[in-house]
Amino acid sequence: MSQPKIVAFAGALRTGSYNKKLVAIAAEAARAAGAEVTVVDLREFNLPLFDQDIEDATGLPDGAKRFKALLRASDAILLSSPEYNSSIPGVLKNAIDWASRSETDDEPDLVAFRGKTAALLSASPGALGGLRSLITVRAILTHIGVYVLPDQVSVSKAHEAFGDAGQLKDERKAKQVAVLAKGLVDFTNKLKA
Ligand code: FNR
Repeated sequence: MSQPKIVAFAGALRTGSYNKKLVAIAAEAARAAGAEVTVVDLREFNLPLFDQDIEDATGLPDGAKRFKALLRASDAILLSSPEYNSSIPGVLKNAIDWASRSETDDEPDLVAFRGKTAALLSASPGALGGLRSLITVRAILTHIGVYVLPDQVSVSKAHEAFGDAGQLKDERKAKQVAVLAKGLVDFTNKLKA
């Protein structure tokens, strides 16, 4: 069986983002479970706010093309999202919106998303660990054809949760992340079989 390809990213731009730390841990666990994982930072893509005038005039910006191509070449998505005002951060929705767009008339709809698998995580300094954002992230991804694993992991008190080496201090939480990442690899392998 070929190695599943996973693209991993956080729905955050901030240097030192807890969600970047969390998705890096999940990515490592997915590698340990046998996947080829590419971790990307949404900042790398320098995405403008979606504007159909830009799209009509010049097509997708280079960064949007690169992000979409990465998703298209992947079997699965590992995503850790912050919660902003009980919902999805604008940067994440904007990235999804750009990657959802077709570049040619004969391109299948939602080619970057449809039929992919995903596992969701969140981190927040708050008590709920940002889990309300995942309700919306899950709904969006499901509506664009992604098979999102029912399980998910949220890290509360994120400002106290990580050690100096970026590890999760709580071993039970670290185990949950590893189980989730392995679950994504196993489910993706089953779908590809
Ligand atoms: C937040 N934050 C936040 N946290 C939370 O648990 N529930 C919420 O509704 C919100 N709302 C919110 C709105 C806005 C505009 C900001 C900037 C922040 C706090 C948020 O969880 C915190 O800044 C995290 O550190 C963001 O994630 P990263 O950047 O550390 O990955």
